Amino acid sequence: MDKKAVIIYWSKTGNTEKVAHGIKEGLEDAGVDVSLLNTDEADEVDYFDYDLVCVGFPSYLWHPPKPMDDLLKKNFRNHRSEGKIKSGSPRIPGKYALIFCTYSGPHTGIDEATPAGDYAGQFFEHIGFKVLDKWYVLSEFHGSLINSTEGRMGDIRGMPTEDDLRKIKEDASNLAEKL
Ligand SMILES: Cc1cc2nc3c(=O)[nH]c(=O)nc-3n(C[C@H](O)[C@H](O)[C@H](O)COP(=O)(O)O)c2cc1C
Repeated sequence: MDKKAVIIYWSKTGNTEKVAHGIKEGLEDAGVDVSLLNTDEADEVDYFDYDLVCVGFPSYLWHPPKPMDDLLKKNFRNHRSEGKIKSGSPRIPGKYALIFCTYSGPHTGIDEATPAGDYAGQFFEHIGFKVLDKWYVLSEFHGSLINSTEGRMGDIRGMPTEDDLRKIKEDASNLAEKL
């Protein structure tokens, strides 16, 4: 039977949305059945209905933005009340997560994105899902020329580029082999 994945994302200026679509295409190329939802559409999603849950967001002050944080916490509360947060967080075979985070790193580079990815990953590790990977995608800071040209990462205008998105698609196809 086909593996099932859901991609849940939040995106204000489009970078994360582009990455989400790249992941969808890559997974589909590998034969995975994919649902793509933004946070508003994902309120009723049950992670346990899927083999792979992909969660994506921009780094905002090295955290997931509020709509994603709220969703992660709401699901965590539900899982706790259903007794799914067990001591020792035993791994559930065949249940996986992927975290993807777009960032511009104008001040301290990728270090101002990894805390957001690590934080989001914990919501899955706690329920026994293995986080297969965390992808950090360098992206233009739309609306801020200074942060897109003079930050720690240099000139990041136009990112993620078509090449970046092609690579993401390939990586997603390769990831599907681990399901
Ligand atoms: C309010 C705000 C806070 C941000 N904070 C960070 C940050 O802490 N670290 C970082 O690397 N980029 C930060 N950024 C840049 C975004 O993470 C980056 O541009 C991202 O790709 C935007 O994603 P989107 O186009 O999907 O909305 C911030 C942007 C905004 C608007």
